[in-house]
Amino acid sequence: MTKLITIAFCLVLQAAAAAPVPHGCKGVPPGWKLVWSDEFNYTGLPDATKWDYDVGGDGWGNNESEYYTRADKKNAWVKDGFLYITARKEVKEGRQYTSARLVTKGKGDWLYGRIEVRAKLPEGRGMWPAIWLLPTEDKYGGWPASGEVDIMENVGFMPDSVFGSIHTQKFNHIIHTQTTKGLYVKDPYTNFHVYSVEWSRQAISFFVDGQQYLTFYNSGKGFEEWPFDERFHLLLNIAVGGGWGGKKGIDDAIFPRSMVVDYVRVYQREDVEGKVDSLLQKMTLEEKVGQLNQYNDDLNPTGPVTYAGDNKAKEVSAGRVGSMLNVIGAKNTRRLQEEAMKSRLKIPLLFGQDVIHGYRVTFPIPLAEAASWDMAAIRQSARVAATEAAASGIHWTFAPMVDIARDPRWGRVMEGAGEDPYLGALIARARVQGFQGNGPGSLDAVMACAKHFAAYGAAIGGRDYNSVDMSLRTLWEIYLPPFKAALDAGAATFMNSFNDLNGVPATGNGYLQRDILKGKWHFSGFVVSDWGSIGEMIPHGYVADSKQAAEVAIKAGSDMDMESRCYISNLVSLVKEGKVAESLVDEAVKRILTKKFELGLFDDPFRYSDEKREAAVQNTSASRAVSRQMACKSVVLLKNEGHLLPLSKNIKTIALLGPLMKAKKEMQGFWSFDWGPEDQLISPYEGIADKLGNNTRLLYAKGCGIEDTSRAGVAEAVAAAAQADVTILAVGERQDMSGEAKSRANIHLPGIQEELVKAVRATGKPVIVMVMGGRPLIFNWTADHVPAILFTWWLGSEAGHAMADVLFGDYNPAGKLPISFPREEGQLPVYYNYLSTGRPGKDDSDRFYRTGYIDLVKSPRFAFGYGLSYTDFVYSDLQLSRTEMTPSDSLVVTFTLTNKGSYAGEEVAQLYIRDLVAQPLRPVKELKDFSKVRLEPGESRRLSFTIDKNKLSFYNEELEWIVQSGQFELMVGAASNDIRLHGTFVLK
Ligand code: NOJ
Repeated sequence: MTKLITIAFCLVLQAAAAAPVPHGCKGVPPGWKLVWSDEFNYTGLPDATKWDYDVGGDGWGNNESEYYTRADKKNAWVKDGFLYITARKEVKEGRQYTSARLVTKGKGDWLYGRIEVRAKLPEGRGMWPAIWLLPTEDKYGGWPASGEVDIMENVGFMPDSVFGSIHTQKFNHIIHTQTTKGLYVKDPYTNFHVYSVEWSRQAISFFVDGQQYLTFYNSGKGFEEWPFDERFHLLLNIAVGGGWGGKKGIDDAIFPRSMVVDYVRVYQREDVEGKVDSLLQKMTLEEKVGQLNQYNDDLNPTGPVTYAGDNKAKEVSAGRVGSMLNVIGAKNTRRLQEEAMKSRLKIPLLFGQDVIHGYRVTFPIPLAEAASWDMAAIRQSARVAATEAAASGIHWTFAPMVDIARDPRWGRVMEGAGEDPYLGALIARARVQGFQGNGPGSLDAVMACAKHFAAYGAAIGGRDYNSVDMSLRTLWEIYLPPFKAALDAGAATFMNSFNDLNGVPATGNGYLQRDILKGKWHFSGFVVSDWGSIGEMIPHGYVADSKQAAEVAIKAGSDMDMESRCYISNLVSLVKEGKVAESLVDEAVKRILTKKFELGLFDDPFRYSDEKREAAVQNTSASRAVSRQMACKSVVLLKNEGHLLPLSKNIKTIALLGPLMKAKKEMQGFWSFDWGPEDQLISPYEGIADKLGNNTRLLYAKGCGIEDTSRAGVAEAVAAAAQADVTILAVGERQDMSGEAKSRANIHLPGIQEELVKAVRATGKPVIVMVMGGRPLIFNWTADHVPAILFTWWLGSEAGHAMADVLFGDYNPAGKLPISFPREEGQLPVYYNYLSTGRPGKDDSDRFYRTGYIDLVKSPRFAFGYGLSYTDFVYSDLQLSRTEMTPSDSLVVTFTLTNKGSYAGEEVAQLYIRDLVAQPLRPVKELKDFSKVRLEPGESRRLSFTIDKNKLSFYNEELEWIVQSGQFELMVGAASNDIRLHGTFVLK
């Protein structure tokens, strides 16, 4: 009966056109195929072609009585459409109870998939029902190194909890078991629930009744920690007694008790290759070229529009467009998708969008998020953005931007993760994982796009779109690692870049796109050009006209043409004239169609565009809370003399001053959407006012505008400061002074803002300055004379609340700069991982015939990795597990971190190394690891980093990845210029 009701319910759900097939319903979800199942529609012993009995050994560590299922006991038995796995009371060899265990080993195992088990659990303290995935071959040397996925465990000593967990082991062989209390399952003993897991190379997610409650990401620092890229088989278990099931030895279970299983289903991602091939057969050359063409929606351009006013909808219905960008909202994506459904082959459109730091709820700009050094938080931010965007019908974000940037004049530093390849690679991975969630086809995920391939961040002079001239070694060592990390994390697409690299535009660069990306790295997704970049090879002077541009670009591996129309105008004739092989067009089309199939768009082209879901998932208070938390984590405390911060909430009068104090729109930063007044943006003033009670009087004066030269408002601001106990100033850039095409030659605080700070400081009252902007800024007077400075970047929708959290001590700042802040533009580029010259100088004061400037020191104003806390951290007791190692060894560095201050707080402890003598040269410091930990006042913790061959390797002149023997310096500290512990070791 129950079974019939479930099937009927599932059929109803499937009838709703756009509804996803929930976990547990029959009917194959889009993009998946059923590869293994047992519906238990028979009577008797479990189907011997599918199941085996695991009769167990002598019991194992947890001490449950382990006399597992044997056929003769009928402890696994199918009747009335259900499998009963039963524990009975029996006396055997002196023990009292029988347990039961069925496995698919040898009869069913899978590499990745979605496994669903609908079951009702047995009640009773002594029970231990479980559904596990275990490796079929033990490649890593036993449990837990070989991995285990617990789809469901209901351990008897915590009868009210259902767990999902993974078990794995760190590379250094410390047991690392992650177990998380699961979702509250209402009635696991009286009702059936669907326990399922989705398992891919990137992530393992757990669901109960289709609701996802837990995800583990492959975010370790090496795949060694992630032994799940193997074939696993299923195990159904009901054990009795023992350490986990109940009391040791004897337990209080009531017998017999059964886990009742309705079905087991295993899905795997559909192999779309055949479908792509057969569709390709039906396509005309014109239709193929149409798939390679991407248009901007006229309303929201993010680049120079060269062909406004033509009828895009008509182009779509004629099959001449494969993708659109900048189509906002479910209504609009649906409308255009309907046009695509009028085309001859009904190939759905892909909708792409710059979802850079939030969609509806704005998050801190990416550079600000990078200051958190918190991968879980960064991933979560991208998850929220993906969930919101996907509901509007967006399939694809043009993010993450993973360009390393060493020059803050470049306006797009705001969009990346700063200057360091190691931190940049981890953040690239976290963002890809966050955007792509459980992978293509999930309704809360978008495809990621690693951009801009490559070296766009090294534009000469920090001038956007400018040439890049760099050695291939620097390219490989500094600029490519974040791209490789994005690719390893499964980034579905890449975008090429506007710049030329050593004289060859990236868009027409076969070395980058064919040799590296699609060749050496085996990238299977597709490459989209940047906006018009195929056509821009003409003004570059690389090609004569749009026809040659198309030829060069397709040959170099650019698959989709964003907005230049070179492909749609020329590729058909280029093929007909024999200048471009049709197979090249086919290859690009296949890459794009593959993604459309994987997204499930051929099953239901409208499945993402859902106005109801849009209303339900966008701008929720939960998402705003995530944004506020992320904003807190992004703030960097640059200075805090005399512990001026945090402020008490009982101050009588506070002056709130500065051109950004009441700014709202500015808080979003570049690459954000304007959703109108209903999506509240919190100004610093509002955030502070919300935090404080009526006891505090707030005085406000703007003082000056952002770029004003007028001093008319300064006196009012000074007067307000003079009346107040404390003054908070909000100064900085306009939100559109950083971003694309927003390079600045002068990155000082704009206008007369620093004069305003000076005048207010002259009152002698305590002053706190909050500096806002999308890039490192220069504010030397403020840095020298103001006691407390917070760098708050652009923090997004909840900016004001987060600032108030930090100012008044509800959040203890822990951000660390992901990029160096210069003292003057003349120092640029300035970065921490430079090579030593032959005349390095001991420090800034050692200048006699040394590298440097005669009119300025060479160190940055604020260094990479720098950031303070309200509390004080002390580093001590560095120990190395060895002082000599070979390339096959690993070395463990341990030290103690102590919170000596009076606030709980987080510290990002950083590990740098220097290869003291090497050919070619190695940087004076390279970040190799870090650990962000929270300590209570007085608390100490022993922390460790592991150094292995990979951390010591580098590219030689032939671009081979090598290690060289010799001495290494090892540095542990709070910033790249604040090293607290030193050690050395020798690599043999
Ligand atoms: C040009 C930018 O360089 C790129 O990052 C962006 O994704 C496209 N425009 C589309 O807006």
